[in-house]
Amino acid sequence: MTQIQRTRSQAYEASEDTGRNLSVNPTLGDVIAARFHRRDLLKGALGVAAISATIGPRALAAAVPAQAGATASRFTFKEIEAGVDANHRVAEGYDAKILIRWGDPVLPGAAPFDPMKQSAAAQKLQFGYNNDYLGYLPMPGAANPSQHGLLVVNHEYTNEELMFPGIGEQHAKNDFEKMTAEFVGIEKAAMGGSVLEVRRDAAGWSVVANSKYARRIDADTPMEMAGPAAGHPRLQTKADPSGKRAFGMFNNCAGGITPWGTWLTCEENFHGYFTGKLDPNHPEARNYKRYGVPDTYYVWGRFDDRFDISKEPNEANRFGWTVEIDPFAPASVPKKRTALGRYKREGAAGIVNKDGRYVIYSGDDERFEYVYRFVTSRRVDLTNRAANRDILDEGTLSVARYNADGSIDWLPLVYGQGPLMQANGFASQADIVIETRRAADLLGATQMDRPEDVEANPKTNKVYVALTNNNRRKAGDVNAANPRADNRFGHLIEMMPPDGDHAADKFGWEILLKCGDPSIAAVGAGFSSETTKNGWFGMPDNLAFDSNGGLWVATDGNSQKRTGRSDGLWTVETEGAARGTSKHFFRVPSGAELCGPAFTPDDETLFVSVQHPGESDDEGAPPTFENPNTRWPDFQPNMPPRPSVLAITKHGGGKIGT
Ligand code: FEO
Ligand code: CA
Ligand code: CA
Repeated sequence: MTQIQRTRSQAYEASEDTGRNLSVNPTLGDVIAARFHRRDLLKGALGVAAISATIGPRALAAAVPAQAGATASRFTFKEIEAGVDANHRVAEGYDAKILIRWGDPVLPGAAPFDPMKQSAAAQKLQFGYNNDYLGYLPMPGAANPSQHGLLVVNHEYTNEELMFPGIGEQHAKNDFEKMTAEFVGIEKAAMGGSVLEVRRDAAGWSVVANSKYARRIDADTPMEMAGPAAGHPRLQTKADPSGKRAFGMFNNCAGGITPWGTWLTCEENFHGYFTGKLDPNHPEARNYKRYGVPDTYYVWGRFDDRFDISKEPNEANRFGWTVEIDPFAPASVPKKRTALGRYKREGAAGIVNKDGRYVIYSGDDERFEYVYRFVTSRRVDLTNRAANRDILDEGTLSVARYNADGSIDWLPLVYGQGPLMQANGFASQADIVIETRRAADLLGATQMDRPEDVEANPKTNKVYVALTNNNRRKAGDVNAANPRADNRFGHLIEMMPPDGDHAADKFGWEILLKCGDPSIAAVGAGFSSETTKNGWFGMPDNLAFDSNGGLWVATDGNSQKRTGRSDGLWTVETEGAARGTSKHFFRVPSGAELCGPAFTPDDETLFVSVQHPGESDDEGAPPTFENPNTRWPDFQPNMPPRPSVLAITKHGGGKIGT
């Protein structure tokens, strides 16, 4: 990060730009360079031909192949127009209504929201900021499980310039000069997560007031470290000499719902919350460098010593994990499941394998990072919820190598196997999971274009990876699974487990879509020819499947300048003649990002997160509390735009999208 960040999400993107992965796993460029003289490649004489010859047509196909015997689109809604304005837009015949916004009450006694008088104490009882992942869990015993349940919500990060009157952007260049202990307290209380009881009646969806399930989890909530790293000296701090009791979670991006009814929430860009300096010879120096700790997103360390690595050098090892929370037990202690590894973890979507074990996929969202998989040792017991309580503490973590022949090798991150031993600084599985990235480097995993959500289609068992973008990838760095240099618009990869076995050592893979405007040849996009000018998108992030196996893609990074469209939600056909066709269903207001699509089991409601409405688009003047770039959803004095969860339903009822 070398420049002033105008907005928090631009800061994130700048960091994701850094590409801290300095490992030397061969890229396709190396392979090509070994076969052809590099200078010829650079001159373009061999460019595309050489790449095609090396990685084959599979990865370079402009459009995905149609399959015989295919059917027409499963999505019959009338597509919206792509564009950017101050409001959200949903397909004709649908309603998108606000369910809850930043500052609305979650817990009993919550003060009415007043952003002019916000306090940490008030925020602890109110809905947090920047809602991201959403998970819906039907209420056991409900008359209609699709009309009464729990909605779990991640609160990823905070925007000081839009939350606090009179302070504007705060960042390293102005030395966070207007930050105070109280503002930091509000930020810590506004992150983490919320549990809401929600119900649908004739008037629509609402949050049940004073529910016994209502919960706020924030950056100070006591948690338990579980799994192979629990209690390890590298996790011990002054406040927790046991190394087993963590405090809080933050930057909770995407997540997952387990079949036993718990919520997995993932700590993504944890590095940016730590400040201070570490002696270059400190035992954690190599580890922290690989994760980009410290950074300058926030200045919490000025007011709370545990975020200053010079004062509490192990605290940053206690973040970057997947947290499991039982939303049906409001007093339960959240558990950080260290067996799943530590990185800038995007999500934790899973599927029960045909042998009964639970398989969780995820990306490490930074340029040139990896795709991971975790397979439990034990089988899920769907008849006895308690039997699955600690099932995520034992299993095999592995990382993906995408081979140019269309196969994937899942490389196990297991202590004592291959290079993962003492000679390389790993003394136990605890060291492997704490330094997951470095272990994966040694195994030769494939460097990807910012892997975000990875989700299995429960109908077909195929698994989809969203790669957002990577404008740092040079022509010499392309590999079969990341075939575009300067990949500004991202792509979607499809992975095929053999015979639907998600625990297999080897998968197949193909590119489903290369994103961006297909009408501009130089972009090299690969949507089907049926895709309209509204139907294409860039920067895929969150993925969801409806119960029919239909794929829905949410985006992060579209804007007037980049793609002439806001972020939003698109459907994508994955099977049959329509494969590779996408359609635009919903878009967010100016400056916002769309996250967390979640369906009720009957597909009649789709919950979505509208994150950071009013943030700056592109390089426009930085918005402020007083002067945001949108007043969505309605104008009120002294009220900035508010991150919100919306419930989308169809007029007269029926499944969303059909
Ligand atoms: Fe928080 Fe990778 O998005
Ligand atoms: Ca995300
Ligand atoms: Ca996102």
